[in-house]
Amino acid sequence: MSDIKTVIAPVNIAVIKYWGKRDEELIIPLNDSVSATLDTSVMCAKTSVSASPNFVEDEIWLNGKKESFSNQRLQNCLKEIKQRASVEKSVDNVFLSWKVHICSENNFPTAAGLASSAAGYACLVTALAKLYKVSSDVSSIARLGSGSACRSVYGGFVRWHAGVNPDGSDSVATQIAGSSHWPEMRALILVVGDSKKKISSTIGMKRTADTSELLEYRVQHCVPKRTEQISNAIKERNFAKFAEITMKDSNQFHAVCMDSYPPYVYLTNVSHTIIDLVHKYNEINGEAKIAYTFDAGPNACLYLVENDVPKVLYLIQHIFPSSSNNFVTGLSCNREPLSNEFIKSLSIPVQEKDSIKYVIYTKVGEGPTEIKDGSHLLTTDGTPVKTV
Ligand code: PMV
Repeated sequence: MSDIKTVIAPVNIAVIKYWGKRDEELIIPLNDSVSATLDTSVMCAKTSVSASPNFVEDEIWLNGKKESFSNQRLQNCLKEIKQRASVEKSVDNVFLSWKVHICSENNFPTAAGLASSAAGYACLVTALAKLYKVSSDVSSIARLGSGSACRSVYGGFVRWHAGVNPDGSDSVATQIAGSSHWPEMRALILVVGDSKKKISSTIGMKRTADTSELLEYRVQHCVPKRTEQISNAIKERNFAKFAEITMKDSNQFHAVCMDSYPPYVYLTNVSHTIIDLVHKYNEINGEAKIAYTFDAGPNACLYLVENDVPKVLYLIQHIFPSSSNNFVTGLSCNREPLSNEFIKSLSIPVQEKDSIKYVIYTKVGEGPTEIKDGSHLLTTDGTPVKTV
């Protein structure tokens, strides 16, 4: 006898970045952050969880590989969900004593600065909450897996409140606006590199919190103001304001990496060319049409509205030629040619072939969803379903 729950969960890309912890163990951030949750039909994590009296030990499979269950963050998430279930009396103690099996996969590269851990932990925690019938907010539990995961627990535009309580109980995510609030909002993820990042977010954050004076200034003076401003820009659907704050905050995040001692960098020459291109494009258009933001890697996430996508895709393919015939994945979209005169006025030379590996075209979407069509990743005896 076993019950299987399967959930898909989205990635989120921050527009006000989380960088630096107030508490390392509990993953409590130094500042609030804001993100958009992206459509699960394009990028998602999928997780099946099951508990049974027949399971001998807790087991986990990630992207087709058996992994050790000794990971502290994973254990913290499981422990906290069981604790909630016990407080809420949602399941009995016998059920709580059974071992769990977990099988999870992402449909996009892991650990490439593409928010894979955010989707993964939001998915795991939501699936466990379904299994143990926990009904309260689980963002603070997802946070224990990976900080930014707490924002993937909700769809639309989301704010993670740093909170003030020492136990992290008020370090939770809330929704600023739902996924249908700004229906024109789109995202283009320009994948520059999909190998694992050099400095993990955990190591980078600690080094920056320990050594960067600029981070102190950012946390005290910049982020509080920006968080309010961008929340208002989202509520008012003011793209130009949204774009300006998003770009400034991405730049400041990378500046605090550089201000750390020793410094570390995530952006490459290609990332910088993308930054130049966006600023030139916005300047010639007389207003911000595109916003870039970069996480802990060289890949860009461009936010823009649907009407501008055909022109921008044409431009990207022109400046960053590709040998792939599958260069743009995700949502479908046509291209709208730009005049030679316009392209010339940008004065950005055509780049080396395949500088951008591929582009993912997506939009703002919903939070985690339970899959009820029976397409579980675990069989009823708790082993991974074989995929061909
Ligand atoms: O949650 P982590 O440890 O993967 O850190 C995420 C950090 C950034 O992606 C760079 C910023 C953010 O707010 O998502």
